[in-house]
Amino acid sequence: MSRLPRAQEFLKTGFNAEAASAARFRAMAARAEREGKPRLAAALLGLAAEKDALALSQYEAAQSIREPHEGLAAEIEAALAEERYENEQLYPRMWRDVDPETGAVFHAVVARQAEQATELESLVDRLGRSVGDLSA
Ligand SMILES: [Fe+2]
Repeated sequence: MSRLPRAQEFLKTGFNAEAASAARFRAMAARAEREGKPRLAAALLGLAAEKDALALSQYEAAQSIREPHEGLAAEIEAALAEERYENEQLYPRMWRDVDPETGAVFHAVVARQAEQATELESLVDRLGRSVGDLSA
């Protein structure tokens, strides 16, 4: 078995871990801001940016060992498929098993993600008709 799939998998795990950390630090920064602690909020936002950089470094490393034919459009399509899975399976399964207040949070996520999926579909469509960047 090639080492590449394992390396890809571990880089993805590291990417997911640091991306989640970045989101968590931003959430804590928002809380600090709400609680009237702007200096703490700024420090947490700085750490979130550092976590983004750690996620990005692992994303870039995974890209460097990825098959050459996997372009950005294919990756956006994969992300779209993941969003669809979340909206059609993951969140509905979770909201059936929780209290109404928590369910409402999941419903709101699904609604917003449905809008984002439409935007992603548009990006894939526009990229498919172009060899370069999106037209202005
Ligand atoms: Fe998502």
